[in-house]
Amino acid sequence: MGAHKIALIPGDGIGTPVTQAAWQVVSRACALGGAELDGTWFDWSCDTFLKTGRMMPEDGIETLRGFDAILLGAVGWPQKVPDSVSLHGLLLPIRKNFTQYANIRPHRLLPGVVGPLRAGDFDILCIRENTEGEYSGAGGRVHQGTSDEVAVETSIFTRKGVERILRFGFEQARKRRGKLASVTKSNAQKYSMVFWDEVTDQLAAEYPDVEVSRYHVDAIAARFVIAPETLDVVVASNLFGDILTDLGAAIQGGLGFAASANINPDRSAPSMFEPVHGSAPDIAHLNIANPIATIWSAAMMLEHLGETASAARVMAAIEAATAAGIGTQPGQNSTGEITKAIINQMS
Ligand code: IPM
Ligand code: MN
Repeated sequence: MGAHKIALIPGDGIGTPVTQAAWQVVSRACALGGAELDGTWFDWSCDTFLKTGRMMPEDGIETLRGFDAILLGAVGWPQKVPDSVSLHGLLLPIRKNFTQYANIRPHRLLPGVVGPLRAGDFDILCIRENTEGEYSGAGGRVHQGTSDEVAVETSIFTRKGVERILRFGFEQARKRRGKLASVTKSNAQKYSMVFWDEVTDQLAAEYPDVEVSRYHVDAIAARFVIAPETLDVVVASNLFGDILTDLGAAIQGGLGFAASANINPDRSAPSMFEPVHGSAPDIAHLNIANPIATIWSAAMMLEHLGETASAARVMAAIEAATAAGIGTQPGQNSTGEITKAIINQMS
């Protein structure tokens, strides 16, 4: 197999140091395991927007299409560019244009990390619908700035979209502990969410080996805190999944540990790997950003590329480092120290 072509988009704020860290780690892992990565860096960011009026060039999507995967740091610097502009100019169009419909976010405690819960062990895989739903972008505003102002933002749920994300969830549940939690709010939202429940029930008949539970999003939010060990695979719409995965990050010790993969399961376009966290402008100059979320995301990228041994090597190194107490407390180690400790675990 030739080298895997990786597009590296560090983006804004702490996105840069954590992407550099993750790239160092996966490059080392692949060198040790005989795999080859070929990285190309793109400076697409809010600073680029200030210079060019665009977050990425007009042909940015077409440029990225030629890569095997994308590793992204973080996008956004609201003091420079409104978030609604920067995210719709870079991150969200990549997810949508490349049909990265499955956003996978693992939540578990790494060894040595003490989360905020008294609860014991948990291992949740959140699967967030990533291309439609509440993020479909359908809507508009009229009579702006007047007392007659109206803002409409319509959620769009298609049978194709709902079915494929649930099916993806069922397949993941099969590979894990065989449990699937489907998240809606069908007691209040009687069209889209009742539809989602119906599709869940229809698919459940095809997967008799998977134990399916339906939860309302408010109830499962409480369950994340009270009884997270009862959850295995959790499938949710775009916005519900967004919110639940910040909660998942919190119970796993913080956003510094929360990894994510935006997957195009059909492989008709590249998938993108990024931490759940944002660009954190407030700590961007302090050199204390935890790179583990991005390094873990990059391990998911290696897995997706079929470099299973190198992916496992990276995960083992992360776990050995945190077990030794490196990077487990906010601000305790610098970004460089954590990166070095993880690399040292591999050699
Ligand atoms: C995430 C982020 C993004 C999202 C923002 C930055 C648009 O919060 O990846 O979870 O809502 O998807
Ligand atoms: Mn989010």
